[in-house]
This record gives sequence, C-alpha cells and structure tokens, in this order.
Amino acid sequence: MSTYRTLLDSRVGQPAADGDGVRLTRVFGGADARQLDPFLMLDEFGSDEAADYIGGFPSHPHRGFETVTYMLEGRMLHEDHLGNRGLLGPGGVQWMTAGAGIVHSEMPGPSLQRDGGRAHGFQIWVNLPAKNKRTAPGYQYLPKADIPVATSPDGLIEVTVIAGAAFGVRAAIGTHTPIWLQDWRVKPGAS
Ligand code: FE2
Repeated sequence: MSTYRTLLDSRVGQPAADGDGVRLTRVFGGADARQLDPFLMLDEFGSDEAADYIGGFPSHPHRGFETVTYMLEGRMLHEDHLGNRGLLGPGGVQWMTAGAGIVHSEMPGPSLQRDGGRAHGFQIWVNLPAKNKRTAPGYQYLPKADIPVATSPDGLIEVTVIAGAAFGVRAAIGTHTPIWLQDWRVKPGAS
C-alpha cells in the first residue's frame, strides 16, 4: 500500500561562502532551519574552478551535532584532533559525530590540490537529541561500495540509502534520531 503525504516546503539554494572562501550553495541553515529539525543546514558545493574550493575548511570546531558529507566528484581530505584521517572519495559518505566537541579540517584532496578538476558534494548538519549532545565524538566513513543501493520494483528508481530505508533496503549507518537521508535517481515513467 502506498502512503501519500503533502510536500510541506521546497527551497532554492542561495550563493554563499564558508571555510576559507569556498563558494557554495546554501539551501538552508541557521534561523531558516527551525522547521526542519533535526536538520540544521544543507550546503551543496560544486565547481570546476579550483579557486572556488581550494581554500577548503581549515581546522575548526563543532559541538553538539553531526556533520554528514556526501561526496559525488573529487576527493576531500578529513583530519581531526582524535587522529582520524580519511580521504573521502566519489560516492562516499562521512558521518562525523561532533558530540562533546571535535576539531577537524576538510581540505581538497591531493589531486585537486595539484591538478584542479571538479569537486562536487553536499554537507548536511544533523542535530543531536539533548541527551546525546555531550556524547563522545566519533567518525564513520563509508566508501561508495559499502553504501546500500535500493531499486524500485519497476527498476526505474535507484536509491543510495545513506540513512533510513528504501524499498526494503536498510542503511548501514545508524543514527541517533530516526531520519531518512537518501539520494534518489528517478527515471522518466517511474512511480
Ligand atoms: Fe566541519
């Protein structure tokens, strides 16, 4: 049986800059995210021009929520004060729990630094419930190959299941709040 719900809101992103001059599109963030709990912010970054991303996001702190980075093209190097270091590749997801506090940097990977090229991805901030705000910081990285993909019965929809479930396929990442975070690719004629 299908369940139909009404679309409550749709948003058009606005040009913004963050980190060391990274140009991005902010779909929501700050005061305009109050209706979207537990989501705090959604940014898309995507450019062929190294000048738009080369500054990256040098060392900075987070606390009390989670940062989720979904990379589509290019690579991003993550390093944090806990000693985690990872090169986030195309199709990979980094789910970082800031919890009680974390200091990290997110910089273009070595080949983008050297040769330029296209970088494209999303960063989504997910709030933590009050009881988990001071939880120990943590870091999970799932390369593309480890992220479940679901297909609709008609074969026309493919879903990368980052969090939650779709078409009976459950995500590999567990979340503090039950949420869906998915990349849907829908072909014409799909239902
Ligand atoms: Fe960050």
